[in-house]
Amino acid sequence: MIYTVTLNPALDRTIEIDKLVCEDTIRIIKETFYAGGKGIDVSRMIKEFGGRTVALGYIGGFDGLKLEGLLINAGVVSDFTRIAGETRTNIIIIENSSGCEYVVSASGPEISASEVSSFYQHLLGLRDMDYLVVSGSLPRGATPNFYGQIILAGKKNKAFVLLDTDGKTLRESIEYLPTCIKPNRFELSRLVGRDLQSEADLIRACDEVHEKGIEIVLLSRGKEGLILSLRDRKLRGTTPPVEVASTVGAGDSSIGGFILAHSRGESLEDCLRLACAAGAATVMSPGTELGSRGQVEKLLPLVEITEL
Ligand SMILES: Nc1ncnc2c1ncn2[C@@H]1O[C@H](COP(=O)(O)OP(=O)(O)OP(=O)(O)O)[C@@H](O)[C@H]1O
Ligand SMILES: [Mg+2]
Repeated sequence: MIYTVTLNPALDRTIEIDKLVCEDTIRIIKETFYAGGKGIDVSRMIKEFGGRTVALGYIGGFDGLKLEGLLINAGVVSDFTRIAGETRTNIIIIENSSGCEYVVSASGPEISASEVSSFYQHLLGLRDMDYLVVSGSLPRGATPNFYGQIILAGKKNKAFVLLDTDGKTLRESIEYLPTCIKPNRFELSRLVGRDLQSEADLIRACDEVHEKGIEIVLLSRGKEGLILSLRDRKLRGTTPPVEVASTVGAGDSSIGGFILAHSRGESLEDCLRLACAAGAATVMSPGTELGSRGQVEKLLPLVEITEL
């Protein structure tokens, strides 16, 4: 089973209006809700391809129930841990008259020590865990080493653990040796503590990460595609230019594609191919929408894989 972890998911409420006017009533033209979260999006992409996945994380309050219900309706299986705090709601206002989009983001609930522990215990009990994908930021109340603890639970279950996070959390968590990390160029720069520009710079930085004991670095590079780096092998995957509608969820889609192909025992080239096609298909899709299976399959034969 492929488990994904989203510790700080959000209910995204998108409101379409004509114009924001101070001190007047503004009518909502259209309102939609979406279960948002990086791990959740990884699960969505895996499910789109018929893979078996369960989204884990914390939910609380009515908005948490709504998020869970939206996922059930979308066919994404989840097994959230309930907390006393309330799941956050992000408000996205689309102003038709200007075309502007305003995103009002909430920080999310604080979790207690017992909620930290109950999540860890829950993970340990998941004996059918083959993959564990840990994505995004930590909730308030959790220390950076919480991801270390989660990686440990994955390893105790003999799972392939992929970590996608940034900054201090990434720096501290990789000490617990996830199997794979998926940084973008900026996240990798912050991890090694210097600016990375050329491909040679990026590859040197990947090698430094391998020296710390990380087996696989899946480095995403926006429109430049991805580099799949192992100690003794580097592959570059690129797609032809695509029309960009929204980059939201591109990294998560790439992770979904990579992990799904890996879980099916496909070659590293084919894992990278699916990662590239899934990311690019999502970029072509508007708003929070991810690429569809049809879009991804159309892109697959166009992905170019080069051995470096
Ligand atoms: N403009 C683009 N054209 C084609 N493919 C793209 C483009 N942007 C992203 N992709 C694909 O999606 C993958 C992931 O995108 P990106 O590198 O932006 O991830 P990210 O920075 O982790 O994004 P996020 O975390 O915001 O989802 C890229 O490696 C690439 O394969
Ligand atoms: Mg990312």
